[in-house]
Amino acid sequence: MTLIFAHRGSAGTHPENTLEAFYEADKVGADGIELDVQLTKDGEVIVIHDETVDRTTNGKGFVKDLTLKEVQKLDASYKNKKLFRKPKIPLLREVFAWLKTNNLYCNIELKNNIIDYPGLEEKVVEIIREFEMEHRIIISSFNHYSIVHCYQLEPRIEIAPLFSSTIYMPWVYARSLRAKSIHPNIRAVTDEIIKVAEHNGVAVRPYTINKESLMKRLFQVNCSAFFTDYPEKAIKIRSQL
Ligand code: G3P
Ligand code: CA
Repeated sequence: MTLIFAHRGSAGTHPENTLEAFYEADKVGADGIELDVQLTKDGEVIVIHDETVDRTTNGKGFVKDLTLKEVQKLDASYKNKKLFRKPKIPLLREVFAWLKTNNLYCNIELKNNIIDYPGLEEKVVEIIREFEMEHRIIISSFNHYSIVHCYQLEPRIEIAPLFSSTIYMPWVYARSLRAKSIHPNIRAVTDEIIKVAEHNGVAVRPYTINKESLMKRLFQVNCSAFFTDYPEKAIKIRSQL
């Protein structure tokens, strides 16, 4: 069965990367969530997509220049201001505390392909170990050196390279990294690439699948999973097939 991962939570209906968006993913029956992490000035692992807080909050500035205390004062309601009462940027730990109450998978994307956050890999792996979540987590990144670093720190945690352009035989590349899966932009993979990768034991989880036609296509090729901003819609379509 093709699993459905709620991208940045249920980002199409709720403020992305907030607990509210993750709760919604669970409520509608998603199999997993995806989230993005960056490091604050004082070295805390927080859940936010961009390198700055400008787009998704009422604040301004780079995450790396703000302390946790400063970040926690921000309203992360983004464009859903009227519907949600001041959601916060969560710590990774806060999301994990909630994940311990359910069985959702969690894909952590390390957002260290633009800004290098020294120590991010160690901190994330330490939190995963503390919560004993090694078998429910997939660590991905566009920074492939970083995911290999994570694998070296903790080989029990699955790693997956993210890529946005087509690469030759991505299942061979994945194996060279010790990755059990790949997370391509949907435009970077054909049905044939998906099938051959899966046949070679490499799970394929494309992003970001919001159109019904694409969802149906991936269910039909029996792709391992995909990321969507609309998990409720994806689950409905899957149940009708
Ligand atoms: O993990 C897939 C996807 O989240 C990567 O792109 O920009 O949404 O973080 P982005
Ligand atoms: Ca992401």
